[in-house]
Amino acid sequence: MQIKVAPSILSADFSAMGEAVRAVEGAGADLIHCDVMDGSFVEPITFGGQMVKNIRPLTKLALDVHLMIEHPKTQIKFFADAGADIITVHYGACRRISPDYLAETLEYIKSFGVKCGAVVNPDVPVENIFPVFPQCDMVLLMSVFPGYGGQKFIPEVLEKIKKAREYAVSIGRPDMDIEVDGGVTLNNAEAIKKAGANVLVAGSAVFGADDMSYAIRKIRG
Ligand code: DX5
Ligand code: ZN
Repeated sequence: MQIKVAPSILSADFSAMGEAVRAVEGAGADLIHCDVMDGSFVEPITFGGQMVKNIRPLTKLALDVHLMIEHPKTQIKFFADAGADIITVHYGACRRISPDYLAETLEYIKSFGVKCGAVVNPDVPVENIFPVFPQCDMVLLMSVFPGYGGQKFIPEVLEKIKKAREYAVSIGRPDMDIEVDGGVTLNNAEAIKKAGANVLVAGSAVFGADDMSYAIRKIRG
């Protein structure tokens, strides 16, 4: 299975975002992970569709848009039009609205020709999103509570990664993308991949590195 490294631009200098995107592409990144926060689902506010639209022409890499927002369905159109290649939405934000909202939002994302994924927080069983696995191009398991870069990886998530991979295999999707986000470092990447994840988000581990290309290679393994 192809291992992909997705640097999170949350850890970049927002006043020089274009340079940051070009730099991680040059350093060998596979995806650009865009953390969208609304100040409600999570405390901070980061950016909206305009940022995605502005970085779209600067890179050939896929833009992996992680929506940490309430009412995600209302924002899909903006991010799809801006050029997102994949949009992930939180189980928790959807569940508050209605039991079907997550499945509906995933279908809605696909209706724009954009790939879709469901996200669970560290304290939510991965089984809760098993019903939507068949709809998802990717599932995202948070390994920190969302909101901030630079937090410590929660090791209990390794067991959830294993369960997610086993379930993907059991439904005939052995190559499904399983993404892990939060606290990924050069030291724990091996264990995360061994558990069954193949898409590793890394914010501080890439943008904080002296040598971004070494960091990305080391995380990819
Ligand atoms: C956290 C974000 C992450 C974050 C990861 O809410 O979803 O993508 O940027 O940053 P690090 O790799 O520093 O934990
Ligand atoms: Zn993220």
